[in-house]
Amino acid sequence: MTTTQPTRRPDDATRDELVAAGAVVHAGSDSAREWWRDAVIYQVYPRSFADADGDGIGDLPGVTSRLGHLASLGIDALWLSPFYRSPQRDAGYDVADYRDVDPLFGTLDDFDELLAGAHARGIRVVVDLVPNHTSDQHVWFTEALAAAPGSPERARYVFRDGRGPGGDEPPNNWQSVFGGPAWTRLTEADGTPGQWYLHLFDSTQPDLDWTHPEVRAEFADVLRFWLDRGVDGFRVDVAHGLVKADGLPDWDGHVEMVAGAGDDTADETTGDVEPGAPEDGSTGAGNQGPMFDQDGVHEVYREWHQVLDEYDGDRCLVAEAWVEPLSRLARYVRPDEMHQAFNFSFLTTGWDAAALRRVVAASYRANDEVGAPTTWVLSNHDVVRHPSRLGLADPGVRPNGVFATDPQPDEELGLRRARAATLLMLGMPGSAYLYQGEELGLPEHTALPAEVRQDPAFFRTEGAEAGRDGCRVPLPWAADAPGYGFGPTGETWLPQPASFARYAADVQDGVAGSTLELYRAALATRRAEGLGHGGLAWLDAWAGSADVVAYRNGDVVVLANLGTEPVVLPAGTEVLLSSGPVATDRSADPQVRVPADTTVWLRA
Ligand code: NOJ
Repeated sequence: MTTTQPTRRPDDATRDELVAAGAVVHAGSDSAREWWRDAVIYQVYPRSFADADGDGIGDLPGVTSRLGHLASLGIDALWLSPFYRSPQRDAGYDVADYRDVDPLFGTLDDFDELLAGAHARGIRVVVDLVPNHTSDQHVWFTEALAAAPGSPERARYVFRDGRGPGGDEPPNNWQSVFGGPAWTRLTEADGTPGQWYLHLFDSTQPDLDWTHPEVRAEFADVLRFWLDRGVDGFRVDVAHGLVKADGLPDWDGHVEMVAGAGDDTADETTGDVEPGAPEDGSTGAGNQGPMFDQDGVHEVYREWHQVLDEYDGDRCLVAEAWVEPLSRLARYVRPDEMHQAFNFSFLTTGWDAAALRRVVAASYRANDEVGAPTTWVLSNHDVVRHPSRLGLADPGVRPNGVFATDPQPDEELGLRRARAATLLMLGMPGSAYLYQGEELGLPEHTALPAEVRQDPAFFRTEGAEAGRDGCRVPLPWAADAPGYGFGPTGETWLPQPASFARYAADVQDGVAGSTLELYRAALATRRAEGLGHGGLAWLDAWAGSADVVAYRNGDVVVLANLGTEPVVLPAGTEVLLSSGPVATDRSADPQVRVPADTTVWLRA
């Protein structure tokens, strides 16, 4: 029980004043038109979700075996990270065959079974599409290596002669997102040093040339392959990268996957910007290089939109595009292109009320303009899990992984804030993405030794960046089982921290106040109240507060206290849900005291 002085007292303002809606940021609708407009979509990272065959790597039958967990969570859809044939140099984001399941994960029959099982529970299934690059084991690339410079086989990729004497220098100065040069030189069949090929990521992930008609035709066909099997949509990897600027000009910048929103100049109430500033709430300093966000990518998505339209049932495309400002990102979700884009500007905003208000307003402003739903996301397989991010001394920094020798996140503070951030997010209209394990409150594994790490980003930066393994650790299902119940043998492809015992699903199931029960309750209330297709208006009394983000969505008031002192609301406010303990015993204390780092959903 805290004894600090509350920031607001009921006698400061009336109840009505404290919860009166002010500026409307987003108008609601009576219902969502297509399912994806307000869907809660849960990301399954197959190698770390559940292992059915006991080899320590999760698989599709493992996912099927845990569909009950997903159904009881109350999600609308799941998105499966890649399970295709792949040498796994980038955990499956290096695809060797887009039309088959890797034996590590099972078979096409296993996929069909998973799809049918999910559909039977009313859960839609979105699969990952990786069009920017293939694996170097893809038949097209092996053909390209065997063929001569200038051959049709090489034309599907980005091969170029080197610069300088003997072509010894790479064709340009681009850097790989994972570190090191974005070009690798071949040794030609006759043993001489040969051409270079472009890879924005690992050298085992050669970039395709999207100006080539065969590349376009191939991916339209891959879409149809999975649509014919019944998938409900695609998450499109590196959606901003397919087309490169003509002539591949030099660029001195370095693109990071976790490029962030940074500070911004947008008005925090409306999302409007000052003249001359970027068009919305961001610096505009994101991925601006000649390899990203070129106009030509939009042609590709217009074509894919038409492919999806050949099928019934509102299939969808979601862009993974680290593009800023948000108005630029919104071009990916114009009516004839994709349906959603991940809102990384939201994910990369720290724990700061004014910055959050700005990014929320800017998100609605940009998406409403093109008629697309805004999306929300706090964690995924590429970023430090949000309980750990928000537990860092500066929750605004976005490290690419955390080493044991780095300053460690405050686990308790981080979890408290993460739960508050989640309720803040799930109360908002639009579509929300959850990453597996966040419903358990899982922290990042920050003590993985170098010898178990697998992320190419760790190796390509020569260990300077920890990379993403810490958020990809196999899930704990049962506190007392070997491997915390990840699979039947106790094997896990990455070691789990001892703390996972506290977070295992079975110790949270049915336990009031657990993170798992919080997520279940939030999703149930979100559905019952129609929050996903509701509207959002700031609460006037808190609009300029440095510590509070507060909005009304239909009959629900959401108030997040990001400050250090409790916020007091007057009697007459009914707490529907709270991310942490609040004093609601009316007989003892007629006020609702919202402690620091806590979000409440109120009926008021
Ligand atoms: C984005 C994916 O989310 C990430 O995991 C992958 O490494 C890169 N794209 C390259 O495919």
